[in-house]
Amino acid sequence: MASDVASRVTVEIDPRRYRDVLGHYPTGVALITAIDESGTPVGMIVGSFTSVSMDPPLIAYLPSKGSFAYSRISTASHFVINVLSAAQENLCRTFASRVDDKWSGVSWHSAPNGAPVLDEAVAWIECSVESVIEAGDHFIVLGRVVELAVVNPATPLLFFQGGYGRFTIGSLVAGAAPELASAIRMADALREDIQSLAEEMKAGCDLFGPVGSDLAYVGSATFPGLKRSSPALGSRTPLLAPLGEQYVCWGTPDEQMKWITRSGDTDPESQALKLERLEIARQRGWSMSRIARDEEIKFYDAVRQYTEEELLPARERVLREQIVAWSQLYEPVDVKEDETYSVHSIVVPIRCGDGDVVMSLRLVGLPDPTSGRDLLAIVDRLKEASALMSTKILSHVGSCS
Ligand SMILES: Cc1cc2nc3c(=O)[nH]c(=O)nc-3n(C[C@H](O)[C@H](O)[C@H](O)COP(=O)(O)O)c2cc1C
Repeated sequence: MASDVASRVTVEIDPRRYRDVLGHYPTGVALITAIDESGTPVGMIVGSFTSVSMDPPLIAYLPSKGSFAYSRISTASHFVINVLSAAQENLCRTFASRVDDKWSGVSWHSAPNGAPVLDEAVAWIECSVESVIEAGDHFIVLGRVVELAVVNPATPLLFFQGGYGRFTIGSLVAGAAPELASAIRMADALREDIQSLAEEMKAGCDLFGPVGSDLAYVGSATFPGLKRSSPALGSRTPLLAPLGEQYVCWGTPDEQMKWITRSGDTDPESQALKLERLEIARQRGWSMSRIARDEEIKFYDAVRQYTEEELLPARERVLREQIVAWSQLYEPVDVKEDETYSVHSIVVPIRCGDGDVVMSLRLVGLPDPTSGRDLLAIVDRLKEASALMSTKILSHVGSCS
């Protein structure tokens, strides 16, 4: 009885409010295409495309009962869902409008059953019509997937609050530009210092600064004849375990856990091991990584893509995997004076007085192998240099931020 009454009560919803609230849910944008009865291509923009079932493979979209485009699409046995890329915003606007010739200048080819596939789409899914369900002033069209492919894995077009936009990664996006400007200013104040250190050590000498949740490569010095591969100045790497140990080991427990979980590590045992390593790094005041030549090239390529190309989840994943794969190269080594080591880098923090780490100083390109005795002497020298650099930053830049 109670449910009977409830079903008869119609709650009045203001259409504007309905649109406004629902518009806060972002959607992708797809162009549904087909060849109509007269053999002419037809297209309709929808935000209501969704996957429905894997077994059998079903998808759905919801055309308005009043849509002219849908009245033509519904005459075809097959249709294609074209997932639009952010670069196809203009095409989307054209197809959502009432202009006559929507296909002018659009390059497409036919899917196996004839419906148009846009050459520039992110992906396409060809379907046969499984069923059409009435739902208020719309239909729910269920399609059975018969063929599908990713053509162009670019950023998709998104629709939100009535406007178009694109996807950006939340987790690894570089922080605000002021942070980068500050890191560059500090690196600039230390230009001569890293140059003379590079010459003294006959090695490469680099500076890194934190920018958002990334580390930015902001200073570099070398000496003639040293062969080294390194990323371009200004490139960034995400700050996650094991990279940037000499930042994180001085940070709060919360920052340390974030650094570990960001690497995808959810195993309590391995997390505890990483926390132990951070404690060792903090007590020592320096960190070291060992050489991995082939891996290094792949890493720098991933860094370049992360920094210079469109920030896509797949690129972030490649770089993240690359960094995590390096974990064993960062295992703390108990350096013995009479043994030798293949050292890739030694890093010491540059701290603001006794406080926060504002930059890190990295030495690369040491002879391979390097004796333990030399290594310990180099560490001492780097610590001394970093203390001087910290004073210099304060006097040149005025503050450590
Ligand atoms: C981003 C976006 C999403 C849309 N989603 C849908 C949808 O899911 N269903 C629908 O019927 N119309 C949707 N439309 C509107 C149609 O694309 C089309 O403009 C409308 O149906 C009128 O055109 P027609 O009568 O010529 O088909 C959407 C429009 C835009 C811009």
